[in-house]
Amino acid sequence: MASLPGVPESYWVESTAATSFPSLSQDIAADVAVVGGGIAGLCAAWELSQTGRSVVVLEADRIAAAVTGYTTAKLSAQHTLIYDRLRKSHGEQAAWLYASSQQDAVEHVFATAADLDIDCDLERLPAYTYVEPGEQTEQITAEVDAARQAGLPASLVTETGLPFDVAAAVRVENQAQFHPRKYLLALVRQITRSGARVYERTRVMGLEEGEPCRLACENGTTVTAADVVVATHYPVFDRALLFARLQPRRELVVAAPIPAEQDPGGIYITTQHNTRSIRTTPYRDGRRLLIITGEIASPGSGDAGERFHRLAAWTREHFTGVNISHRWAAQDNATTDHLPYVGHFHPGAEHVYVSAGFSGWGMSNGVMSGKLLAALITGQDLPWAKLYDPRRLHPLREAGPIVKLQAKVARHFIGDRLRSTHADSVADILPGAGAVVRIGGQRCAVYRDTAGAVHAVSATCTHLGCIVAFNQAEQTWECPCHGSRFATDGAVLHGPATRPLEPIDQDEPT
Ligand code: FES
Repeated sequence: MASLPGVPESYWVESTAATSFPSLSQDIAADVAVVGGGIAGLCAAWELSQTGRSVVVLEADRIAAAVTGYTTAKLSAQHTLIYDRLRKSHGEQAAWLYASSQQDAVEHVFATAADLDIDCDLERLPAYTYVEPGEQTEQITAEVDAARQAGLPASLVTETGLPFDVAAAVRVENQAQFHPRKYLLALVRQITRSGARVYERTRVMGLEEGEPCRLACENGTTVTAADVVVATHYPVFDRALLFARLQPRRELVVAAPIPAEQDPGGIYITTQHNTRSIRTTPYRDGRRLLIITGEIASPGSGDAGERFHRLAAWTREHFTGVNISHRWAAQDNATTDHLPYVGHFHPGAEHVYVSAGFSGWGMSNGVMSGKLLAALITGQDLPWAKLYDPRRLHPLREAGPIVKLQAKVARHFIGDRLRSTHADSVADILPGAGAVVRIGGQRCAVYRDTAGAVHAVSATCTHLGCIVAFNQAEQTWECPCHGSRFATDGAVLHGPATRPLEPIDQDEPT
């Protein structure tokens, strides 16, 4: 196969300085401990620090550098076709609350960026969900009606700024795009000036609920806090069986510089072609960087190489003459009722809160979540608190998706054990490739680096025991059950797993 397009780096990460906060080295106490330094955790920390509470952020790796550093970073209340879906499944009031909370988040970023004078390439522009010619347009007209009913300034259009025809589109005014790391790193500078503490490379392994709560970190240190926010994308502690209601998915991104005059002047999305999402951002020499996202698949479903090529080919075909400069991938979790979980972690939780399940719309939901969690912790009410309460369960609405999700997990848990291994022997594994191989009766995740050296770890995911699979394009081991990701040496890249894949107790497996 041809080499993959672009350099494997997120533009958001590449264009900002790396952070280097210390690891936690002693026991500490705070009013609120936030576990996870992505957009949800950092926005919660920001909002809480504004209330005068002492806040500590504990990030397993680097802040704003995992999922948040690899997003498309649209800041929008228009989420593909959500309003017609919500209107049908949850009612008009729920759709209205969803729209209000998401638009409130968009405006909150504008207000905060203005207050703090943050230069984060924040741009206000319309958002479109479109279908191409030849496709049914009924879903678009229904969405226009539902979005209007939900209070958004939506209209039906057939003309857009895209360089190709569309059959119909929902256009929603007053949406936005920004540079997520520029915004969040500015917030972090502000909160640390006002006394909040941020620790990186500090993985939280245990949570004891109580008054106060206690968090146990990997290096043996302890954090005591009156309230705890778990904002680790996929919750690292599952106190409410959210595992049964979250479906991880991985989405690919390619980017290419374009002349400023070719900017399509909006943020766009279609569900066709396994999703195509389009935006731009300011780039070097007065150009714009075109950012295209799509090719959704479950983690652990195999190599992403072909999907990267498909996305790049689509981009070249629809934006003539572009050269792909970057590629990266993002991960998100969809929920079984299409709404995020933001609020008290479980029915008995008094001081532990969770934020998860943004279904691909992590920017507005991350900001919304920060405001909502701060309101809950400080005893205030927001009109949409009940809508996002993780303790909700709508048995009739969710039974089907939950059963389907669990059947998939069971299929992997049992089926992947019965399946023959992915390679007959270590010798079959080419440089730069990895495969699951049975060694001495044990399933091993074996990777051969480009210099030919072999690295072997257990193929059993340390979360709940499913068998991992290799993603060659991203050089990672991925678990198909709940989306944990591991480096080739077994280190955790993405939860819910918190422990690395076990090393194999032999020097050179064969
Ligand atoms: Fe749950 Fe692997 S992520 S078993």
